[in-house]
Amino acid sequence: MDKAKLPRHIAIIMDGNGRWARNRDLPRLEGHRRGSETVEGIVEACREIGIEYLTLYAFSQENWNRPSDEVLGLMDLLKHFLIQKRPKLIQNGVRLRVIGQIDRLPEGVLRELTKTIAETRHCEKMTLVLALSYSSRSELTELVNQMVRSALAEGDASRVIREDELDRQLYTEGLPDPDLLIRTSGEHRISNFLLWQMAYTELYFTDTLWPDFNREELEAAIREYQSRERRFGLTTEQVRATL
Ligand code: IPE
Ligand code: IPE
Ligand code: MG
Repeated sequence: MDKAKLPRHIAIIMDGNGRWARNRDLPRLEGHRRGSETVEGIVEACREIGIEYLTLYAFSQENWNRPSDEVLGLMDLLKHFLIQKRPKLIQNGVRLRVIGQIDRLPEGVLRELTKTIAETRHCEKMTLVLALSYSSRSELTELVNQMVRSALAEGDASRVIREDELDRQLYTEGLPDPDLLIRTSGEHRISNFLLWQMAYTELYFTDTLWPDFNREELEAAIREYQSRERRFGLTTEQVRATL
């Protein structure tokens, strides 16, 4: 792994907890519990490697439609994760941030989330972004509505919206776009995650189920990322000339 060419921002779709549990005849929630242990290890690994931003897709808006006992179990797990890991986040200098429609979260989760965000605000080693009740399409749609409303309120029908303006009004405001996306569990899709922000993100898929994902696999993904040439629409010759 080349320490000089690290991705600044890694995003992960943590998938496969249910299948991990099913393979062992365990309840799905046990898979989620093991998945949350993986989260702890991967946050630590990213911080040690020197990744500046790590975004984890923990719960999508579509996930609200799962059986209610699974949803409740996941919310409970999240709440306890926040309570238990808060001191470690602070100790390790990890700032927490959240993206998503968090007003849909149960009060207890929201309280722990707000507390953790406040108490890690000063942390500067790494930013951990949790995507909770997140849907990229619904965020973009809401933003378009907001922009239309404000243009109408200003009576400015010819208002032109720039890309950077739109970018600044998303939940991810101030975060660099992800350089690398990892999805576990063998699924090759984006599932409504960071659609705008991933325009030029390098995608990496692994068959490993999230509870089995570990530092070695993370480093393999980073090495694969480092072997790719990011061209952003240019030619190889152009890219090499600017190096
Ligand atoms: C990912 O694991 C965690 C969440 C979506 C909350 P899944 O629960 O989707 O696991 P599979 O895809 O059923 O194996
Ligand atoms: C995506 O996983 C969401 C999270 C990992 C939180 P899903 O398991 O919900 O995605 P699909 O349904 O397989 O696309
Ligand atoms: Mg899944």
